Amino acid sequence: MVGLFSRMVVGMTIRMPRWFVSWVSRRYVAGPELKDAVKVMHRLSKEGACFTIDVLGEEITSMDEATFFLEEYKRVITAISDNKFDANLSIKPTAFGLLLDSEKGMDNIESLVSMANEHDMFVRLDMEDHRVTDDTIQVMLDMHDKGLKNVGVVLQGRLFRTLEDIRYIADKIGPNADYRICKGIYLEPSEISHTERQPIIEATSACIDAMLDSGAYVGIASHDHPVVNHTLKALESRGMGPSTDDPRDNSGAVRKQKGPGYEFQMLLGVRGPMRRKLSNQGHRTRVYIPYGEMWYEYSIRRLQENPTIGTQVAKAFLMPWTNRP
Ligand code: FDA
Repeated sequence: MVGLFSRMVVGMTIRMPRWFVSWVSRRYVAGPELKDAVKVMHRLSKEGACFTIDVLGEEITSMDEATFFLEEYKRVITAISDNKFDANLSIKPTAFGLLLDSEKGMDNIESLVSMANEHDMFVRLDMEDHRVTDDTIQVMLDMHDKGLKNVGVVLQGRLFRTLEDIRYIADKIGPNADYRICKGIYLEPSEISHTERQPIIEATSACIDAMLDSGAYVGIASHDHPVVNHTLKALESRGMGPSTDDPRDNSGAVRKQKGPGYEFQMLLGVRGPMRRKLSNQGHRTRVYIPYGEMWYEYSIRRLQENPTIGTQVAKAFLMPWTNRP
């Protein structure tokens, strides 16, 4: 249940002047332009991080907007390639028009994934709310069918269906599966999803185990100590870790710009000390870097969808020792 305090923070934030929201969100969003994301990648490369880039946007209403995202992401590929960054892309299939014109949307995604493939670059399909879970998984499977294996999905630990999805995807593409697993940011209904903190942690941990056991590549996207600690134990019990090749019999080929079967992923500006500690221990750590002109609309929409983010941001702001960038 979302607390009163969280709702108050959201209520206050949406009444704040734009400059104030910009000032607070500076930490979580690289800036309005691609050059801002490039600057952040230069800075964080020195901390041993690799990256995934997200062009911010709202749900689109015309295919012209889909074309904008396609062209902007193509610029991102070129910038990553020109700067030789250790980085890949995170895209939202709906931003490419999947819900407006599924055929054209698929063409757009294929065009981007093909270009990324030519640059040996991976494309992650971010997962939006439960209305598009099936479609997003299907997009990934269709790309694999077309021979484009540089694509993987995000699955959300809080959804009841996720263990079944892992089995389904393992049946279809075996060790070519490449996941990001997270708790899931959308507050989904209790009929289809865990809604309390502890069950969400346990369900997410169970998904991490199932993914590791399936031989897939696993990006663990969490800043939460119980999830990260569970992962470290799960890796150790499978003989996996930073100083050894992936020992799993059922894992796929070694992947370019990837860790030994797994990596940790964190959001820009969140729990930097935890990320740096993992990185110093030798684990591959990836920072999710959002940028774009739509930073304001995006930030406000995410807050409204999940008011607990407002509490986390307010806590980081008022009690900085709990969450340094
Ligand atoms: P938890 O919410 O308990 O956070 C632990 C601590 O981390 C908090 O107490 C706070 O200090 C800090 N923190 C976490 N999130 C913060 C934030 N936004 N701002 C400030 N502080 C924060 N979800 C989804 O549905 N689809 C997706 O595609 C993705 N993609 C994705 C990529 C990456 C790299 C990450 C790290 C996360 C996602 N998520 C996501 C979001 C994810 O599902 C989840 O909502 C958040 O990561 C928060 O969950 P934690 O496991 O970090 O725990």
